[in-house]
Amino acid sequence: MAKEAAHQLGTPLSSLYGWIQLLKDSSRGDDVSYQYIYEAENDVSRIEAVAERFNKIGSSAELKLMRPEPIIRRVVEYMERRIPQFGQEILLETDLKITRPAALNAQLFEWALENLIKNAIDALPAGAGSKGDTSEGATSVGATSAGATSVGITSAGATSTRATSARATDTPQKRITIEATEQNDRLIIDIIDNGSGIPKSAVSQVFKPGYSTKKRGWGLGLSLTRRIIETYHNGKISIYKTAPGQGTTFRIQIPLPAQKVSHQPE
Ligand SMILES: Nc1ncnc2c1ncn2[C@@H]1O[C@H](COP(=O)(O)OP(=O)(O)OP(=O)(O)O)[C@@H](O)[C@H]1O
Ligand SMILES: [Mg+2]
Repeated sequence: MAKEAAHQLGTPLSSLYGWIQLLKDSSRGDDVSYQYIYEAENDVSRIEAVAERFNKIGSSAELKLMRPEPIIRRVVEYMERRIPQFGQEILLETDLKITRPAALNAQLFEWALENLIKNAIDALPAGAGSKGDTSEGATSVGATSAGATSVGITSAGATSTRATSARATDTPQKRITIEATEQNDRLIIDIIDNGSGIPKSAVSQVFKPGYSTKKRGWGLGLSLTRRIIETYHNGKISIYKTAPGQGTTFRIQIPLPAQKVSHQPE
């Protein structure tokens, strides 16, 4: 079914590419419309990437040995470009202390991370979300005044922590951190937010397909993410910690291939 949908998208997508090419040719010299066309082209590539993911999920996904760090950075960069649309001030940090390759399917792995980051955004206080979170019993961590100037999102390196807002504010900085470490034979990725947290009663529900507390949520993100991590990557995903009003950490664990040990001749 998923494969079929992906396939069905193929024809209109190539046709869209064709139209975009024609538009590009006819708009030379006009900076503004060229910019719009460029954006449209980006979005068409994006749809293509999504179709490709559906294509993958329908089959047994091929895993390749690769470094996870560039994949994580790519997802973060994509989210950064997207989040200013939400018009909020969110600090997105990465702290990636990883060097070893892991057996991954890049497209599916990106999808899983994207779902977790989107959920983290949705969990941030008032209006930060892409869909609006109506979590019952979720305590908001200090709402920011409506109409606050959008500063967008800043990605800080492992060592620096920059505030995005120039305004003096007593509300906590909305923050999402992605930490990655290697522990023995496992790659550990934590997606940490300081959002609403998950009420105790909901902790056992969130991975179930169809469970959503959002106005326009499908409740599919986490069940898909679990499938990607556990079925396709032989890993584990869990809620590592959560506290209502303080935030949530989702933890991904992926097995790492054994390191080659070079024996010194005696
Ligand atoms: N980081 C988080 N903080 C607080 N609650 C969360 C977080 N991540 C998930 N949840 C809760 O788990 C529910 C299920 O998440 P899931 O991603 O499966 O569905 P959704 O985000 O509601 O919809 P979609 O299918 O569009 O992803 C959410 O509706 C929310 O209540
Ligand atoms: Mg979701």
